[in-house]
Amino acid sequence: MLSTESIVPIPALDLTYVRSQFPSLAQTVNGHSAAFLDGPGGTQVPQLVIDAISGYLRHNNANTGGAYATSRRTDAMIAEARSAMADFLHSGADEVAFGPNMTTLTFAISRAIGRDLKPGDEIVVTRLDHDANVSPWLAMAEDRGVTVRWAEIHDADCTLDMADLASKINSKTKLVAAGYASNAVGTINPVKEIVGLAHAAEALAYIDAVHYGPHGLIDVAGLDCDFLVCSTYKFFGPHMGVLFGKREHLKRLRPYKVRPNTNAIPNCWEWGTLNHECIAGIAACVEYLADLGRHARESCGEDETCGDGRIGHPSSEARPLTRRAAIEAAYAAIHEHESALLQRMIAGLVKIPALKIYGITDPARFHERCATLAIRVDGHTPLELSTQLGDRGFFTWDGNYYALNLTEHLDVEKSGGFLRIGLVHYNTVEEVDRLLAALREIVGA
Ligand SMILES: Cc1ncc(COP(=O)(O)O)c(C=O)c1O
Repeated sequence: MLSTESIVPIPALDLTYVRSQFPSLAQTVNGHSAAFLDGPGGTQVPQLVIDAISGYLRHNNANTGGAYATSRRTDAMIAEARSAMADFLHSGADEVAFGPNMTTLTFAISRAIGRDLKPGDEIVVTRLDHDANVSPWLAMAEDRGVTVRWAEIHDADCTLDMADLASKINSKTKLVAAGYASNAVGTINPVKEIVGLAHAAEALAYIDAVHYGPHGLIDVAGLDCDFLVCSTYKFFGPHMGVLFGKREHLKRLRPYKVRPNTNAIPNCWEWGTLNHECIAGIAACVEYLADLGRHARESCGEDETCGDGRIGHPSSEARPLTRRAAIEAAYAAIHEHESALLQRMIAGLVKIPALKIYGITDPARFHERCATLAIRVDGHTPLELSTQLGDRGFFTWDGNYYALNLTEHLDVEKSGGFLRIGLVHYNTVEEVDRLLAALREIVGA
């Protein structure tokens, strides 16, 4: 077991710089500094995003496709946001569609995919997923007479049972829907392997990266997935969803759409008038991440502890980073920081008697999880804990967070689910230590 004292110091993310970008982090509750540990429900936004949204409404507010200045600027802004998201996802800009949120986009695309399916076809969903990557597929399967197969988990560490998943895929399988990371217990799934299993059966791979987005670099080209969905409000942007679809699929599938809308991709996969001000915020949120990467690289300099070829590598020093390379650098710094926070948090939590952590706790396996923790403490409901923490300025969540199949399977649904503590890159060591002290006080440890 790790002790808090033996832990390596937090590496080089410039927390002062990071936190200065997020005005909302300065809030207090009952005289306590607010600690935003609710990232999995939605992260805070940097000033860049706030300015982009209000700037759009002030200067460019218009519908698209008009023959006048604000409408043209709106068209240009959306094109730029698409290209920014393409850099974020590592895709083509014409493979990126915007929508109100991941759930809406998934219901919509599931209808289109279902058009080609028939009774006897099969799809695979997982016990670990958020219901937004389950219910749309169940509804489609019901409508089309398609058989649904469930991939189970290893209860002991809340990881996906890959052997079970593989056994559920066969020549009738048409789609495998899996999450990149669990929004409840933090498990990161071996997504590339899942995509490979799906493709070996000539099935589509549909990946929910909503929870992974703030923690790890998404690379749809590297994953070779057919679809990937994420939500920008989970990674420091506004409340919107984004769909990546391989060009060939977006062209081949037929969306349910109104006739005057174009048949050209990706716009034919976007319904009605979009939230333009939030799309302006999406471009800014990608810019924030790229700025973070550039800043991390600058502050890293030629320091050998950072000289791993990703950031601060001496030979790359003179070259300006492309936006994609800057995003990669940001996630390298984010990963180091979050790993150290996670290590410290788990080292403290395991010392609290009667507290159970659901998910991976072995530090040697931290690369298989992100810094999202689901816990329960004997004698206290998750709601009681969350409320008492909330009064002390800690924003945590209780319940199932729509990972309903998981809480039912682990038999915690009826007793209030889990208390969820979510760490992202703007959280600090001091917040982790304060949270651990508050929890100890609340449970009398
Ligand atoms: C893993 C995961 N998938 C899907 C969703 C649904 O996303 P949205 O709110 O954009 O529909 C969430 C939201 O919490 C989530 O955490």
